[in-house]
Amino acid sequence: METEVEYRRKERTALVAIVVLASVAVASLLVAFSYYCYIRNKVSKRHKNHKKVNDDDKGGFAHLQVAADKGLQVFTFKQLHSATGGFSKSNVVGQGGFGLVYRGVLSDGRKAAIKFMDQAGKQGEEEFRVEVELLSRLRSPYLLALLGYCSHNNHKLLVYEFMANGGLQEHLYPVSNSNVFSMKLDWETRLRIALEAAKGLEYLHEHVSPPVIHRDFKSSNILLDKNLHAKVSDFGLAKLGSDRAGGHVSTRVLGTQGYVAPEYALTGHLTTKSDVYSYGVVLLELLTGRVPVDMKRPPGEGVLVSWALPLLTDREKVVEIMDPALEGQYSMKEFIQVAAIAAMCVQPEADYRPLMADVVQSLVPLVKTRRSTSKVGSCSSFHANKLPTAQDSGLVNHSSEPGTLF
Ligand SMILES: Nc1ncnc2c1ncn2[C@@H]1O[C@H](COP(=O)(O)OP(=O)(O)OP(=O)(O)O)[C@@H](O)[C@H]1O
Ligand SMILES: [Mg+2]
Repeated sequence: METEVEYRRKERTALVAIVVLASVAVASLLVAFSYYCYIRNKVSKRHKNHKKVNDDDKGGFAHLQVAADKGLQVFTFKQLHSATGGFSKSNVVGQGGFGLVYRGVLSDGRKAAIKFMDQAGKQGEEEFRVEVELLSRLRSPYLLALLGYCSHNNHKLLVYEFMANGGLQEHLYPVSNSNVFSMKLDWETRLRIALEAAKGLEYLHEHVSPPVIHRDFKSSNILLDKNLHAKVSDFGLAKLGSDRAGGHVSTRVLGTQGYVAPEYALTGHLTTKSDVYSYGVVLLELLTGRVPVDMKRPPGEGVLVSWALPLLTDREKVVEIMDPALEGQYSMKEFIQVAAIAAMCVQPEADYRPLMADVVQSLVPLVKTRRSTSKVGSCSSFHANKLPTAQDSGLVNHSSEPGTLF
């Protein structure tokens, strides 16, 4: 009898133990499942955020990964009005696709160039903001700095550092309506300008993520400071003014006549190699002192690239393209090297053009040489009857079709 009671007691204890253990197991399972759900939720949120960043990247420079301080000043219209003497005509230093450009002195004494977007532009507040954001994120000694901006009702203004010697083109050939005193650029200065401009493009293409394609690289967008050092400008304005009717507007969509790479002109296909082509045209301007398109010239000479390209690769004839303003004050060897670089940059096939990093690498020794040896006018290294080669240009071509031109 006692054994029976004892047995029942043991049975109850075992049952309680089983129920307790089962409850603990269920509770553990519930905890584990909740934790799983929590982690899953977290991961999917992170994934969504990541995707959003990528989408924003596509949407236009909102997440450019470059190290730069923002430091942009927001000006009131009144401040810029007084900086420019009430936007006085006497302070106009130029006019371009964006509108008039004024010289101004800011309240802290800094000189500035103030671009006043004219009323014909129909760009929205949003696009202006995106452009300002892009410009504010890029910092390089070879790019024109944006100091600030003003967006007041319909008035939109951009405030840049002032470049005392204006656009490069104003010193290479006569430009109508130029307010800048034209300087004669010697060979050494031209080489340095070529290098500094190349470094500006190299920064946009290779030190910014995603890369920025200038789209309107030309001699008027290379500005010179009081010591004739060069900076590239208007690298963020390509989209602004794209819907403007008449005048400069179309230049914004397809760049500027004479500078546009053939594949971009024909198909609208735009890559960093389109900028390399435009850079080659600027090199040709520096070598020849000629405008990219001048239909008043004799037949066959109106389009700079078409006229110069066959001569660039002919050592006997390359002398024919030289800017008479150089008056023999250059080294023929260097001239041939720069001509060879220009020839590679203006190749009709985009893949055959070098990267801007290659161009910079090949120009650096020339500028260094000029600094260490001040002798000019030497034609001693000129060897006729041999075509310029990629070695002449010093180009290490990292592009997909290396050295195909020569
Ligand atoms: N930061 C600056 N400092 C001094 N002068 C400037 C500055 N920016 C522009 N300019 C002057 O204003 C002129 C017009 O410049 P802008 O960039 O508006 O037009 P553009 O380069 O001729 O054509 P686009 O609008 O197609 O770029 C330049 O050629 C230059 O003389
Ligand atoms: Mg410009």
